Amino acid sequence: MDANSGYDRMKELKEFDESKMGVKGLSDSGITSIPRFFVHPPETLADFKKSSSTCTNIPIIDLSSIINSKDTDHRLKIVEQVKEAAKTWGFFQAINHGVPISVLDETIHAIKAFHDQPHEVKAKFYKRENEIGGVMYTSNNDLYRAKSAAWHDSLQAWMGPEPLKVADLPRICRNEVVAWDKSATEVAETVMELLCEGLGLEAGKFKELTFLDARVLVGHCYPYCPQPDLTVGITSHTDPGVITVLLQNHVPGLQVKHGDEWVNVKPVPGGLIINAGDFLQIISNGEYKSVQHRVLANSSKESRISIVIFFNLSKWKEDGYYGPLPELLSPEKPAIYRNFTTQEYIENFYGKGIDTKSLIEKIKIQN
Ligand code: OGA
Ligand code: NI
Repeated sequence: MDANSGYDRMKELKEFDESKMGVKGLSDSGITSIPRFFVHPPETLADFKKSSSTCTNIPIIDLSSIINSKDTDHRLKIVEQVKEAAKTWGFFQAINHGVPISVLDETIHAIKAFHDQPHEVKAKFYKRENEIGGVMYTSNNDLYRAKSAAWHDSLQAWMGPEPLKVADLPRICRNEVVAWDKSATEVAETVMELLCEGLGLEAGKFKELTFLDARVLVGHCYPYCPQPDLTVGITSHTDPGVITVLLQNHVPGLQVKHGDEWVNVKPVPGGLIINAGDFLQIISNGEYKSVQHRVLANSSKESRISIVIFFNLSKWKEDGYYGPLPELLSPEKPAIYRNFTTQEYIENFYGKGIDTKSLIEKIKIQN
């Protein structure tokens, strides 16, 4: 309890959580002001107002010739583009990736349909404990850990390494989630091959290291926010895993940090956003960058929908230690990160709000 104002934040958080209505429920109820626990401190809000006017978009990479031909010269050019994007932006938008637009549309439509249901229907999927495996619907994964809540709800499903029990998925998006996981994993495989080649590794190295196996699919909904200047859609963060594949509808809001600027990611029809996670930065010994990104609270009446698949670390080494790949190290290029354990990785991710320091900072070797 805040003694000065009589504001009991914990009570309000609990009431919101127990209502299981999510921010979509709040938005649909027609509220005109947001609950106080969503309001971010002035410093954060001031920073959110600073978006770049000069830079227009993250790099766009056309994968058509990779998918359809064996032209090795051209492949080298694409490898260069992917490498450059992963080194300097940590992000790019893939077009002509081989997944039909109809599949992208059906996926977005199905996730939107899930979130558009009355909250009583969604409530039976609502959970707070974030266990590895299974399906959960929640609002703000880090509701009780973060300093301020963000204006989004999410449906999350572990698609691997243990096969998901398909019947656990909400029927309204079941087939689409399964189909999307398959398509997105194919794109991820192509991208991982290009990333490997960019590091001078065998194209199949990441697949061999099981980086395609531990997948978490999250269907986010950013409903209309009546006071978008007081809160955020997602707090600034980096993704913990290897890579993330993100599909979004046409409602903007995603921003990527580039140098000192926040760049708006313009939704490109048919495009898929790919970004490097902390784990990729570490194993690539800093070659590829895991970059901060965030989402603005949605001021449009239409919900913003995004579907992300996080490709996480799975079993890799018997002793459970992870670190820069030995193949990439030499006397000229010594390891800049120490090894870490799976336990450290998981604790760092789940033990904090998403805005806290990433594992990368903790394991950097100081010299
Ligand atoms: C995330 C994320 C961005 C988006 O879930 O990690 O950054 O556009 N999402 O939903
Ligand atoms: Ni993210």
